[in-house]
Amino acid sequence: MDFQLKVLLLIFCVVLIFSCKSVNKPYNYKRFPDNFSEIQRDYENYYYLNACEPGETIASIGAGNGIKEIQISCFIEEITWYLQEIDSSRLYQFEEVLAYRENLIGSSISADFNLVLGTENSTSLPQGIFNRILMLNVFHEIESRDEIMMEIHQLLDEDGLLIIMERIGKTEGEIHSDCGYSKLMEPIVLQEMNDYGYRLKRKQLGEEMSNLMFYTFDSKK
Ligand SMILES: C[S@@+](CC[C@H](N)C(=O)[O-])C[C@H]1O[C@@H](n2cnc3c(N)ncnc32)[C@H](O)[C@@H]1O
Repeated sequence: MDFQLKVLLLIFCVVLIFSCKSVNKPYNYKRFPDNFSEIQRDYENYYYLNACEPGETIASIGAGNGIKEIQISCFIEEITWYLQEIDSSRLYQFEEVLAYRENLIGSSISADFNLVLGTENSTSLPQGIFNRILMLNVFHEIESRDEIMMEIHQLLDEDGLLIIMERIGKTEGEIHSDCGYSKLMEPIVLQEMNDYGYRLKRKQLGEEMSNLMFYTFDSKK
């Protein structure tokens, strides 16, 4: 085989390897795991702090394509999810992400998924049915926060809990590298939540380097 042919073959193989790696991967997040043991490690390291229980009805506000909720459902069965977003293009990716994840773990995920499109100032979620509402990495992105946060009181059931997961700033002026929004400081978040009528029940550190915090609240209303 002459040299040019060998080089061409080599280039072809390299292109093939890279294109195979990205085939069927329905999202481009760098951080999301690509095998079951990594999904399990993320759950055991911090997603367990959402404390989701089997059989619960849970809304996730600003769920994106639902990847975190799908991953939680790999470990906690029979959750009825309401994945809520204002960006329909992210919700459209959900089916593909679910299929990709089921393929990774080699079995179907036992959960019900309802997709809900809301607006900047209203969630469009049904009232009074949620055992748990999650806001995973979304609180800082909501522009009309007072309207959404006041509506959440009506969405939770009697003993319902609200979990906010945020990467909290360690010093003033830090920004989120992915979205460019400012990181919130803890005293601001806690004061704001108190003003909206929520009581802090638990505060846990999920991951130290990025100061990933999980706050659990109930409604004082
Ligand atoms: C950083 S992403 C997090 C997505 C997902 N929760 C995750 O952790 O992968 C924030 C999401 O919040 C959504 N969002 C922003 N404002 C919102 C609002 N008022 N109501 C619902 N979702 C909102 C955005 O469309 C975006 O998908």
